Amino acid sequence: MLALALATVSSASAAGKLEIFSWWSGDEGPALDALVKLYKQKYPSVTVDNATVSGGAGTNAKAVLKTRMLGGTPPDSFQAHAGQELIGTWVVANRMEDLSSLFKSEGWTKAFPADVVKLISSKGGIWSVPVNVHRSNVFWYNPAKLKAWGVTVPKTWPEFLTTCTALKAKGVAAPLVVGENWTQQQLWENVMVGTLGADGWNNLWSGKLKFTDPKVVGAFTTFGKVMDCTNKDASGLSWQQASDRVIDGTSAFNLMGDWAAGYFTTTKKLAPGTGFGWAAAPGTTKVFVMLADSFGLPKGAKDRAEAINWLKLLGSKQGQDTFNPLKGSIAARLDSDLSKYNTYSKSAATDWKNSRIVGSMAHGAVAPESFTSAFGAIIDQFVAGKDSKGAAAASQQLADKAGIGK
Ligand code: GAL
Repeated sequence: MLALALATVSSASAAGKLEIFSWWSGDEGPALDALVKLYKQKYPSVTVDNATVSGGAGTNAKAVLKTRMLGGTPPDSFQAHAGQELIGTWVVANRMEDLSSLFKSEGWTKAFPADVVKLISSKGGIWSVPVNVHRSNVFWYNPAKLKAWGVTVPKTWPEFLTTCTALKAKGVAAPLVVGENWTQQQLWENVMVGTLGADGWNNLWSGKLKFTDPKVVGAFTTFGKVMDCTNKDASGLSWQQASDRVIDGTSAFNLMGDWAAGYFTTTKKLAPGTGFGWAAAPGTTKVFVMLADSFGLPKGAKDRAEAINWLKLLGSKQGQDTFNPLKGSIAARLDSDLSKYNTYSKSAATDWKNSRIVGSMAHGAVAPESFTSAFGAIIDQFVAGKDSKGAAAASQQLADKAGIGK
């Protein structure tokens, strides 16, 4: 019954309301705004409430969403990272509708890469519609500044530490800029991937490699040294403010997901290659740390038919090629029109095809929200005290509690 209902709801004349919920406000807004505009063109009689709670990586939005979901007033459709963030939180709690029939009727099981479909599937269901693929293991820099300092992008984390010393000697107090807690988690995961390799990283999340393993403890120590190369005011900086410091030459590098490319091109109007440069984070050249933003359909959505039309637009070629060129991400679909994308995104699309793909913890692909949100405190404590063994033991405890590797 439900399958039939999902497949048949689609009408260009749908009237009513639609509330979508995300953390894409302000500087993060233009790509979503373009998608909303397209929706309004297709469904002119629907009033769209584009509800946002600002804050990078959705740290604030996820808390508000929790209150609404538990209070029985879910938005019609909400942003969630493809993978464990949604599955380990709202799917296991039986709060989401299975979108399998929509995937079938829209031809999406073939339109998206099999690995992406696998990421959003569990218990025989498919739980959200991915609108993009972001890469989170990218080092951003200002080409003119690197030239002036006479440094190149380091290829490994030990090499980064040497470059850091060289830059400090040239008066660059914080060679690497970081921002608030989640950006430090993202840095941590890239030090891990760059040190343990793709297999080591995957083994952490399957439970084969313990956080207390000497290799992981050693990578924590490297992360501590990397943090010694960063700014002292990190906790007060948004990711955009951190990105600004690379462009204005305060710092040499920023490790950030490629929403930074969207910010540099769409908001700052900088040209890829000259206004900003990029490279894979140290030690991760042939690896693509991925995450995907997706939207799901909560049970009890008030405007279900409008929400399904929203999901259809998100998953369509037109929707993805409208959203992603502005966002810095690439389409999750396989048939995207690359001529619509800039040189950064074209290079990301090539790397997506030719790299080892692993999932991001900081952005919900490989770990449930219960791990990621609590891991922030471990990072804070580690950065303050640099106790690698203590942080590794606390991480393992948290992983056990979150059911990782079970
Ligand atoms: C990520 C999200 C991106 C971007 C970024 C910064 O978690 O997947 O689309 O919004 O946070 O807020």
